[in-house]
This record gives sequence, C-alpha cells and structure tokens, in this order.
Amino acid sequence: MSETKEELVLIESIDQTRLEISPTLDPKRRSKLGQFMTPGRIASFMGDMFDELPEHVRLLDAGAGMGALTAAFVTKALSRNAKPKSIDVTCYEVDDQLATILDETLAACAERCAAEGVKFTSEVIRDDYVLHSAEPLLHQNRTFNCAILNPPYGKINQASEWRLALRSLGIETVNLYTAFVAVALGQMEDGGELVAITPRSFCNGSYYEPFRRLLLAGSAISALHVFESRRSSFKDDDVLQENMIFRVRKGGTQDDVLLSTDQTEARVVPFTEIVRPNDRHAFIRLPVVGDGLAARVQALPCTLADLRIKVSTGRVVDFRATEHLRKDPGDDTVPLIYPQHFHDGGIRWPIPDFRKHNALADCADTESLITPAGIYVLTKRFSAKEEKRRLVASIYDGGRAGFENHLNYFHENGAGLSIDLARGLAAFLNSEAVDQYFRIFSGHTQVNATDLRNLHYPNREQLEALGRGETTVEDLF
Ligand SMILES: C[S@@+](CC[C@H](N)C(=O)[O-])C[C@H]1O[C@@H](n2cnc3c(N)ncnc32)[C@H](O)[C@@H]1O
Repeated sequence: MSETKEELVLIESIDQTRLEISPTLDPKRRSKLGQFMTPGRIASFMGDMFDELPEHVRLLDAGAGMGALTAAFVTKALSRNAKPKSIDVTCYEVDDQLATILDETLAACAERCAAEGVKFTSEVIRDDYVLHSAEPLLHQNRTFNCAILNPPYGKINQASEWRLALRSLGIETVNLYTAFVAVALGQMEDGGELVAITPRSFCNGSYYEPFRRLLLAGSAISALHVFESRRSSFKDDDVLQENMIFRVRKGGTQDDVLLSTDQTEARVVPFTEIVRPNDRHAFIRLPVVGDGLAARVQALPCTLADLRIKVSTGRVVDFRATEHLRKDPGDDTVPLIYPQHFHDGGIRWPIPDFRKHNALADCADTESLITPAGIYVLTKRFSAKEEKRRLVASIYDGGRAGFENHLNYFHENGAGLSIDLARGLAAFLNSEAVDQYFRIFSGHTQVNATDLRNLHYPNREQLEALGRGETTVEDLF
C-alpha cells in the first residue's frame, strides 16, 4: 500500500488520538462497550475498499468511536478522481466522551470537504444503535448507500433488550457485532456497499448460521481481507480476536470474491470456494494459506496418546519381501495395500493390471507383516509437491492385510478402530485445517508417523460425532 501525503497525515492523526485517548478510557466500560479503535492504517485501507462512490453519499458509521473510519472514508473519497458531490454522514456513538471527540473529527471532515467543494453534512446520534434502530418511526426513513463499521463485540443474552429489539427487526443473532452488521444492512438501499472489520467467528459455528444466511441472502460478498498474524490488526489495543474485513453489496449478484491477507496479494476466488454449494451450514471459508487454521489445529485438546490411538508405518517393505509378493489375490494370500489403492476416502482393491502387487503370501514368514482384520485409517507418507493435499487419509475396512511401507496406519494397540472413530479421524486428517497445518509447520512433503504423533487432535467424542455425521470438521474449530 502506498499512501499519499493526506493519507499519511490521516493515519498519523487517527493513531495519535487513539493512542492518547484509549488509555484514558475506563477499562471496564471499555471492555463492555468493545472500545477497541481501528488503527490508522487499517481505517485507511477500509476507506479505500469502496467501489465507485455514489454522487451523493449517505454514509453510516455505527459505533463510530472517535470517527476514525468516517475520517478515512472522507479522506479517500476526496482523493478520488470522481469525487462525490456531497457526503452526508450519520454516526452512532453511545459513549459521550468519545462522541465529543467524534464531533471534532466531523468538523475537520467538513473543513476538508469545503476546501474540495464537496458538500458535507453530519449527525451524531448519541444513543444505542440497535435499540434506536428498532424504533419504527426512526427506522423507516433512514437509508444509506455506504456503511463503514468497526462494531463492538459482546455476547447478546437471550433476555436482553437487544435480543427483543433485534427480533422486532427480524434479526436473530448472538453477538453485538453481527447485530450491528445485520441492522446496518437493513438500513441500506440496494446497490449500497458495506465495509466492516469484525472477528472471524461468524464464518463458522452453528450459532452464527442465521446471520450468515441473512448476509448471503440479502447481499453479495465482494471482498474478504484476512489478518493472518493473530495480533496484527489491533496490536496496540492488545486484542486477541482474529479479525477480518469484508465488503458486501446490498442486493448485489454474487460473483467471484477478492480474497487478500495482510501477508499476501489479493486474488480472485470463485464464490463456490468461499461458500460450498451444498454446505448445509453455509460456512464462509477463507481459503488462505496462513496461520489462522493451522493455529486452531494447534489449539486442539488431544494428542494421539490421549486418544489411546497409535500410528505405525506399514510393515511390508516390498523389496525385502519379493518372494512373497503376488500380482493378484489367490489361495493363501492377503490383500497388500499400497497408497495407489486409496480411492475417494476408501480402498479400491485389487487394481487390475497393477504395476505393483495386490497381494502378499499368507505364510509363516509373513505372519509378522500382516495386520489383523479390522478398520484402520491409512495415510500416505509421501505426496508430490504438486499434489493438492499434504495429507491423504483413507479407511481400510476388511480382513487381515499387509500394509505397505509408504503408508502409515492408525490402530488401537495393534487392532482396528470403531467405524465412527475411523470415519471421524479420516475426516479430520483430510480437512483443510490439517492440510494447512502441515504446509506451515512442516518444510517437507512427507508426513511421517512422528508428525502424526505430534499433531493435535479433537477428543474422542468429537471424532466419533464427526464420524456419525452429527458435526462437521468446521465445528471443531
Ligand atoms: C470497536 S469500537 C470502534 C470505534 C470506531 N468505529 C473505530 O473504528 O475506531 C466500537 C464503538 O462502538 C461504541 N458502542 C458500543 N456499543 C454501542 C451501541 N450499542 N450503540 C452505539 N455505539 C456503541 C463503543 O463506544 C465504541 O466506540
């Protein structure tokens, strides 16, 4: 990002006010009202995210704090070739101390607009945004064509005033930040753009499903920006939330999505990669290679030892057992399973005209190489660089067999696993999160038994529920 002189001045002044005022705020109230201000550089980035601006901008900034986002929006609007003719701003701020500073920010915006010949009007509503918006008379005649938000976050309890107010607006949601976005979308006219910075939690989890549905039904996502390093966005405020920025167009037609991170350039991603067409929960995926998902894998509760599961490398080293290898099954043989037999999460065996061997002689010499009948999760030890996934897991469910040395197998003390556990484990190992974990934490393309022992896993109940299809992998994180 390269900034003009005005933008640099803006960023500096936002940061100066923020760093001066934030420490003077009452810590309890600050946390209750989610008063974590947007840093200048991020505000500036958000101000820049709007597509073409309408001639007459009607901007909403709900939970405006000291006005960082409005200031950024106005600065960016004035630096465009096609400047708007007028900007009318409505800010909501419930905290009087901040609202006083907000007045000053708006006065400065007015001055700058006047200098550029852009008409500027503004109003600060010193009230609770959600409750105020639920009052029907006020709600009816307010519409916006742009919105820029860094809403407060906090749980909304069942019995709270907010819950009732939201219900009257037809909104079901569990957190103040999703409430702010939902209410704002309701107040926008079709074609209007909303840019918001929020935690990522709404992207998955069943509590946020109604919000996701509302968002996806009423608007089109056009850009997603993800912060990969946990603390990068609110460093000075020490907020641990994982944040993201999104841009949506009210009533727009869903098209490809521009996906960027603080570590990588933006790329165009088909929407089907963001929300899978048949996803029953409408999870919003963020297919970025970064530490987000991987960190969540690291935070999982169990090791393999906790699960009482072991992982071993296939015992059949083919070149050491050549006299016992058979091209095809016959009398006195057991299946010999290679990674080539993996097929769609299961095993396709025997392979006709297989280059290697489909079977192993079943005799005294091979007894120690044969695994008891049962259900095992097998993983490939090696993947080619160009292969889609680092880790590929398949389920073997059958009689005694020889597992070849290019694969690892999960077992319980040498015996097989229950079908639910095996299915859950395979789904977990095949997940995007585990894939990213290996991409980030392992420099090579092999996944050894030791790597699998060092991996963190969900607990047994979670894996079994996953295996029964009662939850999805996304619910684990
Ligand atoms: C996360 S801060 C963001 C402030 C500002 N938009 C920024 O980006 O720096 C959220 C702001 O919302 C205000 N706020 C909290 N709850 C509110 C409510 N129910 N109605 C209106 N404002 C609220 C807080 O006082 C705080 O200033």
